[in-house]
Amino acid sequence: MSLVTLRPMRAEDADTVAALHATSWRSAYRGMLTDDFLDNQVVADRQAVWRERLQGPATAPAFGVVAEDAKGQMIGFTYVLLHHDPVWGSLIDNLHVLPEHKGDGIGRRLLQAVAKQLGTEHTRPCFLWVLDANEPAKRFYARMGAEFAEQSMAPPFGGVSLPEWRCVWRDPATLLNDA
Ligand SMILES: CC(C)(COP(=O)(O)OP(=O)(O)OC[C@H]1O[C@@H](n2cnc3c(N)ncnc32)[C@H](O)[C@@H]1OP(=O)(O)O)[C@@H](O)C(=O)NCCC(=O)NCCS
Repeated sequence: MSLVTLRPMRAEDADTVAALHATSWRSAYRGMLTDDFLDNQVVADRQAVWRERLQGPATAPAFGVVAEDAKGQMIGFTYVLLHHDPVWGSLIDNLHVLPEHKGDGIGRRLLQAVAKQLGTEHTRPCFLWVLDANEPAKRFYARMGAEFAEQSMAPPFGGVSLPEWRCVWRDPATLLNDA
């Protein structure tokens, strides 16, 4: 695998993160979200979200981590809303790796970067939501030691509302034990 580096997400990353997010959704969520949304709306939708998050007024404590290849091109990212839920802790709200880089260990490295940062913030547990239909991601989270704690309905997005699972790491430091 070529050299991949991680760094903190910055405000000027908004449009690049949005483009990667849209590419990932088009690949991973085809057949789950509507074709119209994925073909015609997803880029603008994600741009609005990431510009607001990274360039708008700060509304909640959060941090992001991006993965870059040797040329400095962004190939993955994750974003965390700290202390999001009084019971379940910090929310990992998005973890995406470009389709052509899946399986290269980048998702694991991004999750481990989250665990390290949560450790320094004395924050635990952490959780994320994964769509029930997203079988590859569910297998990845199971491999990463997540507990599938409960099922719920996702708030409508991309034209539909879908069942999803709450994946929990009661002690995120366990992620660091995985080589
Ligand atoms: C899910 C995702 C983040 C995983 O990241 P990744 O970089 O592909 O995964 P890694 O290469 O770090 O895999 C780490 C481990 O999980 C395993 N794994 C990853 N994907 C897997 C899959 N689909 N099925 C089974 N195991 C899988 C790997 O084999 C590896 O285990 P190993 O070391 O024992 O071989 C990435 O594939 C992705 O972005 N998918 C599309 C978007 C998405 O669904 N995001 C999640 C939204 S909730």
